[in-house]
Order: sequence, then structure tokens, then C-alpha cells
Amino acid sequence: MQRLEELDLYHLPMSDAAMGRNPWPEFEKARQKHPWLAQWDEYGYVIHAYDAMRELFADESKLRPPYADVVDELGQQGTPWGRFTKEQMIALPVEEHRLLRNTFAAKFTPRFANQLRPMMRETISRLLDEWIVDGKMDFEHFASHFPISVMFSLVGAPHEDIQGMVDDLEVIGLAHSYQLDLFPRIQEGMVRIEQYVEDLIAKRRENPRTDGVEDLLELLIKTADEGNIDPQQLQDLISFFFIAGYDTSKNVLTYTMYTLLDHPDIYKRCGEDYEYCKKVIEEALRWFNPGTVARYADADFEFRGVQFPKDTMLFFPLSISGRDPVTYPDAQTFDPDRPIEAERRHIAFALGKHMCLGQYIARAQLQEAIHQIPQRILDPKLSGEPGWRPFPGTWGIRGLPIEFTPGEAVAREAEPA
Ligand code: HEM
Repeated sequence: MQRLEELDLYHLPMSDAAMGRNPWPEFEKARQKHPWLAQWDEYGYVIHAYDAMRELFADESKLRPPYADVVDELGQQGTPWGRFTKEQMIALPVEEHRLLRNTFAAKFTPRFANQLRPMMRETISRLLDEWIVDGKMDFEHFASHFPISVMFSLVGAPHEDIQGMVDDLEVIGLAHSYQLDLFPRIQEGMVRIEQYVEDLIAKRRENPRTDGVEDLLELLIKTADEGNIDPQQLQDLISFFFIAGYDTSKNVLTYTMYTLLDHPDIYKRCGEDYEYCKKVIEEALRWFNPGTVARYADADFEFRGVQFPKDTMLFFPLSISGRDPVTYPDAQTFDPDRPIEAERRHIAFALGKHMCLGQYIARAQLQEAIHQIPQRILDPKLSGEPGWRPFPGTWGIRGLPIEFTPGEAVAREAEPA
């Protein structure tokens, strides 16, 4: 058995801006030194191989979510973000998390997501009407309005409040890239979101819907009341939905567009073939996803002949796992017709007991968007250099300027779910 400090590992420059622009060469260097493990000098170790990530998550009892420790490490104890981060669903002790998750998971089904598709279609269509007029746009800016508009419709919140929320969510999404200078602004955003969600719940309790429609807010309040969920936990859960569902979905949509700029045939077919969009989104989630999941070793443990001491911090860059050449033949080719095999299914939505609760909603809204966008944004071309968010945390493109020919809105029969 080898001790961690005896290994000759590649030191990944995780915080470097260059990693945000193009992390794959760095991970290739890491692979040359060790098949599945590298080092991040400031924080811990990086499990960089797809199969090692899956194997480690097969028994999660040795891992604990990092949030409480990270808040302390960043000196954010007692702050609004620190309080929220330590108490949010994903950070709860095992039993509390299980209770909360079991209460809500039964509702977050593919069926529920499918019921939301007409609203998603209407939302993306309305946003396209507003944004495509000039034949040029920052696609990332456009995309930032889509998942949040869906979320606002889901909870019955007025859409004029969206821009303020987008600005706050943008900066909160950078918290897990660990840049200390951002925290004053993160705290401001957190206070505003918590207040917003508190008011939203209070208004709905005062004025329940009378039209018989059970939107997400109605569903969450009812489920929380039936399951005796604490009011603060309900509020945190709704804030978490805003945070967890915003830049994840936006970044996947933006990167998918960025990719399809180089694949005009696939792009065009997305606009014509609704079923094909599902394949494109699954391949897009393999090709790019925003997440690096972090955990601590909760006890000393051995894995593949390496001894990990308790409290070692471990990072799982799901974001690059889909291009692992050991797992995926021709990993650097974007191919929506690639067969999907269970043992190589992408892990963009993570693994195990914290696997994304919003995955069916995320998939549905990405599929709906990537079907309508090619019908309205014709012949898109990059019109400037894209920028990049930091690699750790919620990674993605920051600014994607494009030019295109605006297309007419197409009146269509309702698409199948
Ligand atoms: C493409 C979009 C999305 C991606 C790539 C994504 C990815 C993830 C990942 C990787 C995790 C696990 C984090 C960890 O284990 O530390 C997660 C958890 C979670 N996500 Fe998502 N997510 C997306 C969209 C959404 C949406 C739209 C919602 C809400 C409507 C959502 C709600 C959640 C929740 C509640 C959890 C925590 C589950 C738990 O702790 O049991 N996500 N997501």
C-alpha cells in the first residue's frame, strides 16, 4: 500500500485562468503521471479518471460533503452564505438529508418534468422573440435568462424581478471557485435571494392558487407541510433550487451552442428533429458539464492500493470525466449517435445519494431550448472571442458573442414529450 505523500503526482494548476480556457491538456499531463490521481496544491487531491470516480462513489460512506469545512476554511462562518451553505440540503447530516430527499425526490420525476414542457416551450419562444431582433447577441447573456425564467414560472414569481436575481446568482455561482475577494458581493446576493424566497413563500401561503394548477412552489409547500419539513429548510431548499439550477443549466446550454457552431449539420437537424435533440443533449452533457464535486475523506481508507488519511480533501471533476480516453473511444469527437452504454453513461448529474434532483427538469429545458434555437437563430457564427469562468466550482463560458440571421417563429403542433 502507498501513502499519498510517496506518490509522484502531477500538480494541477486548478485555479489558473488557463484551466478555465482549456483544461484537457493539463488532465492529459496528469494522466501521464498517474492513471487516476493528481494533486491540487492549495486544497487536496483530484480524482481525474471516470472509472475511479464511479468506483469511489460506489461506497460513499467513506466520503462526506465538504460544505461545513469549506465555510470554515474560507472564514465565512456566521455570514449569510456561510449559514446557508452549512445548512442547505446537500450539506445535511446523512439521516436529515435522506428524509428531506425522500420527501421531495418522489415528486421530481420525468413525468413531472414532462408536464412542464409546454411552459418551457412558451418561455424559450418568448425569449427568442425578444433577443433575436438585431441578428447579434451575447448567447451566454441570452441563455442566462432561460433557466431562471423557467424557474420563475415554476414558482409563480414575477418575471420583472429576473435581472436582479440573475446578477446575484452569477456571483453566488462563483463561491466554489474559492476567490475570497468575491465574498462581500456573494453575501449581498445571498441576503437578497433569501429575502426574496421568504417573501415568495409568505405571499403564496396568504394567497394559495385557486386555479387548480399545482406549480412547483405549491408542490414544495404542500410536500413540506405533509412531511413536517421545517420552514427554514423549505426556504433553503427553494433558494438552493434557484442556485443549483441556474448556472449549471445556463453553462451547459451555452457550451452546447458553442460546440454546435462547429457542427452546422447537427445544429440544423436539432431544429427539425425533436427526438434527435435528446441524443444531442446527452452527448453534450458527456462532452461538457460544469461540475467539480468536492468531498472529504470521513475516515482513513484505502483505494486502489493508496492510503487516504481522514480529512483529505478530494475533488471529482465531473466536467472532464466525459472525455476520458480510457472510457470513451474517440472521446474528443462530438457524436450524438454514440451508443449510450450503462457502464459509460455520463456522470454530469453526479453519482450516489446527492445525484441531481433537478436532472429531469434540466434535461427537459435543454432539449426544448436546443430544438427551438436553430429554428430562430439561423446560420450562427462566432463574432468575438468567448471568455471563461474559473475551472473549479461551476465552470463554463463567460460571454459568447454571435451573429446570425433571425428566423420567423414557427407555428407548430404541440411536440410530444
Ligand atoms: C444541466 C444542469 C445541471 C447540472 C449539470 C447539475 C449538476 C448537479 C450535480 C453535479 C449535483 C451533485 C453535487 C454534489 O454531489 O456535490 C447536483 C445536485 C443537485 N441539483 Fe443539480 N444540476 C443541474 C440542474 C439542476 C436543476 C435545474 C435543479 C433544480 C430545479 C437542480 C437541483 C439540484 C439539487 C436539489 C441537488 C442536491 C441533491 C441532493 O443533495 O440530494 N439541479 N446537481
